[in-house]
Amino acid sequence: MTAPAVGLGPQRVLIAMPGCEGATMRLATPLSAELGHAAVTHFPDGESYVRLYTPVHGADVALVCTLDHPDEKLLPLLWLAIAARERGARRVGLIAPYLAYMRQDVVFNAGEIRAAEHFAALLNPAFDWLVTVDPHLHRIAHLSDVYRMPTIAVEAAPAIAAWILTHVQAPFLIGPDVESRQWVEHIAGICEAPWATLVKTRHSAWHVEVAELPSIPPGCAPVVVDDIISTGRTMLTAAGALQRNGQPQPVCIGVHAVFASDAYSQLCAASAEVVTCDTIPHPSNRIALTEPLVDAVSHMFDLSLPSSRQMLV
Ligand code: R5P
Repeated sequence: MTAPAVGLGPQRVLIAMPGCEGATMRLATPLSAELGHAAVTHFPDGESYVRLYTPVHGADVALVCTLDHPDEKLLPLLWLAIAARERGARRVGLIAPYLAYMRQDVVFNAGEIRAAEHFAALLNPAFDWLVTVDPHLHRIAHLSDVYRMPTIAVEAAPAIAAWILTHVQAPFLIGPDVESRQWVEHIAGICEAPWATLVKTRHSAWHVEVAELPSIPPGCAPVVVDDIISTGRTMLTAAGALQRNGQPQPVCIGVHAVFASDAYSQLCAASAEVVTCDTIPHPSNRIALTEPLVDAVSHMFDLSLPSSRQMLV
């Protein structure tokens, strides 16, 4: 006789880190996962405090934590991963729609560090798998070059292309730098639209220049697409150059709405519309990536991985 399931803990548990409650709720139902509850706060002296309330013994647990402003999020995230493991979780995965530090992928000046690699080294012992969206893979070609766990990088291109197809007539896609070619070419292929990339020179975080503007046929609507909008200077400079070249204000689309300082208001003033994917909650979010994230996380839940890792943190 088969033992009744009564009394067994949940099979799949998603736990939101602060700020990721919305994304976690959107993912839970299609993943047939229970929403877990945890306190993530600070002691009066500033040290992080976590407490996991939901029983997770034997469960596949995933923490949902988009990693913009990563420094303040990292330690509580690691503490909660430890809590899940100490409470007997079968596996602990990380759903980080935005993965931080990927742009620090090389030592430019003596004394700097390749932070992408060291950030990965902090997450590697804590998690069994990682799902993210379009990490900034440039000088690091694959996530597996730095992440020592199964990873899936969800592509935002199909969802961005679907948005463009329903909102922009006769789009001409522009990548503001050579790195953006991977997204622009993919999206343009789906939209069957012409595309080009500019050549960008970054002098500092807040000062970039672009060159090699394409000639855009009359009647086409310029759409600038990039992975990350941080200072917004890449997009702003591209939008300004297009306008000086006689083009209308472009639609500006970013995957990750990092938006430092005044970037969003400046970009709104310089473009026809500012649109982002929902990897970081922001008023510009128009493109939902729930579906491809659910596919990727389902795959991770179904993967046959070792049931427990030695916690090294
Ligand atoms: C750079 O390699 C990225 O693809 C983006 O172009 C860059 O991160 C945008 O940064 P910002 O908004 O600060 O110009």
